[in-house]
Amino acid sequence: MKILELPVPEQVKEVLLQLGISELFPPQEDTIRAGVLEGKNIVLASPTASGKTLIAELCSLKHVLEKNGKVIYLAPLRALASEKFEEFKKYTTIKKADGRKVSVGVSTGDFDTADNWLQRYDIIVTTNEKADSLLRHRAKWMDDISLVIADEVHLLNDAGRGPTLEVVLARLMQVNPDIQVLALSATIGNVDEIASWLNAKFIVTEWRPVTLKEGIVLNDEIQYKDGGARKIEKKTHIPTVNLVLNTIKSGGQALVFASTRKNSVSAAKTVAQHTGDALSKPMKRTLEHEAEKILSSGERTQISENLAEFVRCGVAFHHAGLAGAHRKIIEDAFKEGKIKVLTATPTLAFGVNLPARMVIIQDYRRFEPGYGNYPISVLDYKQMAGRAGRPKYDKVGESVLIAKTSDEADYLMEGYVMAKPERIWSRLGVEKIIRGHVLATVASDFAHSEEGIYEFFSRTFYAYQYDVKAIKGIIGKILKSLYEEEMIDLSGDNIYATKFGKRTSDLYIDPLSAVVIRNALKNEPANITDFGLLHLISHTPDMGPVMRPYARECDVLALQLEQHRDELFVDPPNEWDDHLTYEQFLGEIKTAVVMKNWIEEISEEKLIEQFNVQPGDLYRTIENAKWLLHATDELAALFGAKEILPLTNELVERVSKGIKKELLPIVHLEGIGRVRGRIIFHAGYRTIEDIKHASIEELANLPTIGPRLAKKIKEQVGGFVKKDEWEKLDTEQEFKQKALGDF
Ligand SMILES: Nc1ncnc2c1ncn2[C@@H]1O[C@H](COP(=O)(O)OP(=O)(O)OP(=O)(O)O)[C@@H](O)[C@H]1O
Ligand SMILES: [Mg+2]
Repeated sequence: MKILELPVPEQVKEVLLQLGISELFPPQEDTIRAGVLEGKNIVLASPTASGKTLIAELCSLKHVLEKNGKVIYLAPLRALASEKFEEFKKYTTIKKADGRKVSVGVSTGDFDTADNWLQRYDIIVTTNEKADSLLRHRAKWMDDISLVIADEVHLLNDAGRGPTLEVVLARLMQVNPDIQVLALSATIGNVDEIASWLNAKFIVTEWRPVTLKEGIVLNDEIQYKDGGARKIEKKTHIPTVNLVLNTIKSGGQALVFASTRKNSVSAAKTVAQHTGDALSKPMKRTLEHEAEKILSSGERTQISENLAEFVRCGVAFHHAGLAGAHRKIIEDAFKEGKIKVLTATPTLAFGVNLPARMVIIQDYRRFEPGYGNYPISVLDYKQMAGRAGRPKYDKVGESVLIAKTSDEADYLMEGYVMAKPERIWSRLGVEKIIRGHVLATVASDFAHSEEGIYEFFSRTFYAYQYDVKAIKGIIGKILKSLYEEEMIDLSGDNIYATKFGKRTSDLYIDPLSAVVIRNALKNEPANITDFGLLHLISHTPDMGPVMRPYARECDVLALQLEQHRDELFVDPPNEWDDHLTYEQFLGEIKTAVVMKNWIEEISEEKLIEQFNVQPGDLYRTIENAKWLLHATDELAALFGAKEILPLTNELVERVSKGIKKELLPIVHLEGIGRVRGRIIFHAGYRTIEDIKHASIEELANLPTIGPRLAKKIKEQVGGFVKKDEWEKLDTEQEFKQKALGDF
């Protein structure tokens, strides 16, 4: 089917034709014929790169331009949300009937707000969690949504993201019974079930526009699915390095999947040691420029320095711990062909379009605390493999798993390459997950009776797969405990949320965390300190698994516990009564100690080394701590704990930046974090006023600052930058760089 024949406004066709898209791919044609443009609910399950997004785009524009509608696009991950946002932007030149242009917005951040500014957009791209929190805030504009697109809907199976997604879909269908649902999925074992739950038709195809050759690497040979094989030149004894060098030599780029953030960094390091010879001089100069960009934007940390070092060799790592600015530079540079090899955690496995001719999956196992090592699902494998061979970039793609023995090669061939993806199952039926949603159902006025709550949950995928009776027992138990904790109350037969319940739900924290915090606020220690608060939040379930205390650390941590005993909001358990609980408590103390060191400006490397924590755990803890301190601050305000407020307020800032109090005035500037903040402070600029009086040259000469950032700083403080003064500094630096690049 030709684009020109489509029943969509002419301007949409023009945009597509200009991009060289003139004909639909077969799965797209099937979906159009199934009535997606006439408002039918559809689940489209087709292979990676088969063009599912275009269907979402056409359907969205149909709503915006012809139905006066509004669209929400649910993306499971931030990286995907920003890519889809960029893709939708191409339509923002089109005018609507009211003369205004089509507008697209993206929102993935902060959960504690109704984001009313989103109201003015026609198409809103967001993560599942953000959509859930918007629904809790009852953002008014959400009632106007006429189309919801659930991308990567197979992630219903994901224990972390799945339950949120099904609650969001169930709520949107409840709020707006006429809403059209378009769900996009990988091929899975039970598309029919998802479709029947969503009251939708389903389309399943096996078609892919670009051939994807899947295989297994053993020693120096790739064995392909179709029986073929190919030798790879054995330049080193590391298969990943050989594969990468081979790909670069043939003019391609490679994407390496590692199982953890730490492994993604070490893979980048290993690869970067070998790629130097494969890069031309001009390319090296270009990369030097990219490295400088990384160092001069965002915070300068051990991570950004490593990243810049690898980028000079055409290699980068990509994981959720990277600063947004750095992630963007890396993604763009990879897409532009400057970075040749990207080593990534599975956050890049879903939906994104990258120029990866070769995908290398280093490890088919994952580690999860409490579970140990387990093999990934076929579904996850297919998603990673599917990043190779994207029609925009390559004519053919290859994906390989690395085997160490021939037995393992057989296992991988059968268990992944030849295997069919699994069925997916709802992960909602767990008390810990449901309790927040039960509270939200009442607090955000979705239901005010026990029956109403059951009615809501009967709309979920869980109820579809297992029958709502299966969770009635859990819901009853949750309601009882929410009542006992004074989060909900009764007025006649009517269940309503108390202020405490409503605030908890809006803060997007687990009700149990809120109870821990509320109880602590009622039971203040003799001495209110940073440490006590940091321990308190570490004691809540939302902190996730606390940092594990090693046997050799226990004595020191026990000592810390004693030293801080009069600062703790929570009574420590007795070591001899319950050893496990006591050990867990020491883990919380450890988490608080690490956070305390973090805000005393101890370097990341030192924290990682001294406390034996993984960088990923450190960042996750910082993120959670920030959020929970904000929640503590809000709950302290609600319960009138005034003496705590100044401290919680200040701690939110200090934890998010990792700084002592004295740096607070200056770290608000963009590009200034803990390291540069300290350098500027030491140089005698302690306030914004001080910086206003500094000359650009003085700032530029400080270590790690340089002319570009100095200019940015001066502009932010409202200082005037003379053009010639800055240009002179910048040319001097460029000159220095060029000289370096040539030698
Ligand atoms: N009809 C078409 N003609 C040419 N190119 C197309 C067409 N439809 C889509 N594409 C291109 O195909 C690429 C892959 O599309 P898309 O990202 O939608 O895949 P997908 O099916 O969502 O894959 P995944 O399951 O990996 O998310 C995009 O770069 C897109 O521009
Ligand atoms: Mg997609």
